Amino acid sequence: MKANDILISRRNFIIALGAAWATVSLSPPGLLAKEPVVLKRIIPSSGELLPVIGLGTSRTFDTGDNQAARSNLAEVLQTFFANGGALIDSSPMYGSSERVIGELLKTTKNKSSLFAATKVWTDGEQSGIRQMEESSRLWGVNKFDLIQIHNLRDWKTHLNTLKDWKEQGKVRYIGITTSHGRSHAELEQILRSESLDFVQFTYNIDNRSAEQRLLPLAADRGMATLINRPFQRGNLFGRVKGKPLPEWTAEFDCKSWGQYFLKFVVSHSAVTCSIPATSKVHHIVDNMAAGFGRLPDAEMRNRMIRHFESV
Ligand SMILES: NC(=O)c1ccc[n+]([C@@H]2O[C@H](COP(=O)([O-])OP(=O)(O)OC[C@H]3O[C@@H](n4cnc5c(N)ncnc54)[C@H](OP(=O)(O)O)[C@@H]3O)[C@@H](O)[C@H]2O)c1
Repeated sequence: MKANDILISRRNFIIALGAAWATVSLSPPGLLAKEPVVLKRIIPSSGELLPVIGLGTSRTFDTGDNQAARSNLAEVLQTFFANGGALIDSSPMYGSSERVIGELLKTTKNKSSLFAATKVWTDGEQSGIRQMEESSRLWGVNKFDLIQIHNLRDWKTHLNTLKDWKEQGKVRYIGITTSHGRSHAELEQILRSESLDFVQFTYNIDNRSAEQRLLPLAADRGMATLINRPFQRGNLFGRVKGKPLPEWTAEFDCKSWGQYFLKFVVSHSAVTCSIPATSKVHHIVDNMAAGFGRLPDAEMRNRMIRHFESV
């Protein structure tokens, strides 16, 4: 990636952002800053702040050795960090993604904000340990910020290991994931009985079941939430194709359907960070812009739902 590519991305981003001024952070709300500032939420178990927009890597980073795809992803990563990004989410389940991330990070500049989040996805204690050590080697990180148990797989075994690792300082945060509304009942049981830093599940404007129990439960239990599939795997864009963005979206500094969907997700008070995936530079510019400016309030969120359901 060339230095002026970053500048171009930056300029595109600033144009995307327009004249909007951002709130300083989401806690306390409503403060006005003099310049755009990345919106962040607190990780309850530590008080650390995390930008509300992260980066998913399922499918998009599974490029193997395809050089054209990799050089494009190098620019996606650089643009992510240039626009205040921190959390990258991956998994051994995502083919070559962890290897691609690690190799691209070697040449990514200004990446000190990296918050490296992966998962363990296997059966058995020793197999889990081997997998997490291999992920660490592939990413090129000494210690992950977050390791999550992927889709509840053999969760009791891995949770024991992760608790030990956290105690020994081998990982900073531990969590568990599901998606697409699967296993919510079992996940709720785990959240009630176990002490976790993070929980990850699906929540978007078309799939709001997490509002009923998971989001309030995570808030009650003091757990940070990572939201996967904020675009329902990209399907939400099909629903609004060719439809103009309503003018009233300017009231919360929204300039695209991508920002509409992401601002809907991160404006829920129990959401810590959403992790949209993209393979395209102009989409990461768009997505990162959702992490700046005003967010919709409760009344506006209802209007967004009504409008989305009417198009
Ligand atoms: N159980 C689990 O732990 C679990 C399950 C599912 C997902 N996840 C995590 O969550 C992440 C996100 O979920 P996801 O990847 O399934 O789906 P998603 O983020 O909802 O959607 C990704 C799709 O949206 C498109 N897209 C992204 N930004 C766009 C924009 N601004 N405008 C138009 N299209 C845009 C992407 O295509 P382009 O490449 O063309 O931009 C891609 O096809 C995953 O990558 C993964 O890290 C975890």
